Amino acid sequence: MINKQIFILHLVFCTLLRTAFTISENEDQHKNGSCLVPNNPHSGTYTVGSNPTGTVREGVYVPPLTPLILNCQKRYKPVPPGNFLSICHNGEWLPSPAACSPACPPVESTDTTIVNCKFLGKTLDSCKDPIDGVQAVIKCAEFYEEPGVEQFPYRRCIDGSWDRTFPQCLPVCGLKRPRGIPDPVDSNLVRRGDFPWHVGIYDAKTKSNICGGTLISLRAVVSAAYCFSNLSNGRMYPKENYLVATGKYFLEYHDNRDEDVKYSGVNDIFFPMEYKGEISQYESDIAVVILNTALTPTTSVQPICVDWASKFEYQQISGNNSGLVVGSDLTESIDSSKEFKELAISVLPFEQCFEQVPKDFQRFLTHDKICSELSSSGQSIREGYGGGGLVQYINNRYYLRGIVSVASKISQEGSNVYYVTYTLMSKYVDFVKQLL
Ligand SMILES: *[C@@H]1O[C@H](CO)[C@@H](O)[C@H](O)[C@H]1NC(C)=O
Ligand SMILES: *[C@@H]1O[C@H](CO)[C@@H](O)[C@H](O)[C@H]1NC(C)=O
Ligand SMILES: *[C@@H]1O[C@H](CO)[C@@H](O)[C@H](O)[C@H]1NC(C)=O
Repeated sequence: MINKQIFILHLVFCTLLRTAFTISENEDQHKNGSCLVPNNPHSGTYTVGSNPTGTVREGVYVPPLTPLILNCQKRYKPVPPGNFLSICHNGEWLPSPAACSPACPPVESTDTTIVNCKFLGKTLDSCKDPIDGVQAVIKCAEFYEEPGVEQFPYRRCIDGSWDRTFPQCLPVCGLKRPRGIPDPVDSNLVRRGDFPWHVGIYDAKTKSNICGGTLISLRAVVSAAYCFSNLSNGRMYPKENYLVATGKYFLEYHDNRDEDVKYSGVNDIFFPMEYKGEISQYESDIAVVILNTALTPTTSVQPICVDWASKFEYQQISGNNSGLVVGSDLTESIDSSKEFKELAISVLPFEQCFEQVPKDFQRFLTHDKICSELSSSGQSIREGYGGGGLVQYINNRYYLRGIVSVASKISQEGSNVYYVTYTLMSKYVDFVKQLL
């Protein structure tokens, strides 16, 4: 009984082999260009020919041009990477049969993060089959950054796992990238690329400028709630009423001199629920506007930095710190050459502001506001600058600290003094973060 089974198996085995190719165990023949099937490697098997079941014995000779295919067990990959196939040529397997090695999870480059893999100093075609000893080098794409990547760009595959994680790079924030344009005569003028985070908010029908805003990600703009609502009760108008333009240098919706402008519809607008316009003294005057499509970062489009962890809250801005706002003087002249301007402003301590502003304006200094004084010959900061960001230069980056909200005008001896309030970004970090 037992003998019979062995005999049958043997018969089937040999028949299968003969149908795939001719086999000989004759010493002479291997000298004529045949190759010896090697012993299976650790954690893998070799198969020969086109027979996927791999029915071949170790130690037999196969004729020239027979393929030898390596199959590694789960979580093992061929070493050298990618070499799973050898061909019998002149009595030798070429390339020499690969072995199996513990594999790390594959990694792929993305739009933001570029990964290259090397093995024994040789750059691999991909990082799809990383084995022990493969080194991955991570690099952020242009306009993206990640401190962990810059400090430690190398990862190594050891015993089937990577020695460090693979973080995704994020858009660079808060860096001016002015292009080589000579300084305008008016030094207040914004140079192209000076404020890549500043956006214009326009009336979808009339295309007139309504407000400014600040990119905090490639899809989210922070602006003032009053720009999108009925002033008296804070009720939000339909999002379809608005268009957002990024990469702008000139105020008009269409200006041929603008180079990299992108227009976007609005997908959603969010206010804190406490915002009730005039009824509640413009408290919580902040809006998060989600664009229809995510932007691609360029020299003229880039988010501002946000102090998400409130690290600078007590360090800065509460004293007489200065910041910058970007906007345009709508009331100045009616020519169409209006450009965005940067104003340096000095933030007043709350007490001082409270003392200086007109009595009927004091009620607008709610708990979430700071204020600044502005002397000007006719501009109204609320019109040309409203919703725009008050930004501050900290540790070599620009941070969004406030949003231009309400302003009060006092006329004194022919010139106007404005008190402008800014909604403090730090009070709404949690509100904003959960919307991203
Ligand atoms: C090997 O090659 C020689 C000469 O080319 C030939 O005479 C001989 O028959 C071959 N041997 C086999 C087993 O094919
Ligand atoms: C704003 O709200 C007030 C009070 O509800 C209303 O009378 C007025 O018509 C609204 N204005 C607009 C433009 O909707
Ligand atoms: C801040 O205050 C100091 C004096 O305390 C003054 O010299 C400086 O000019 C002020 N800075 C600004 C921007 O007003």
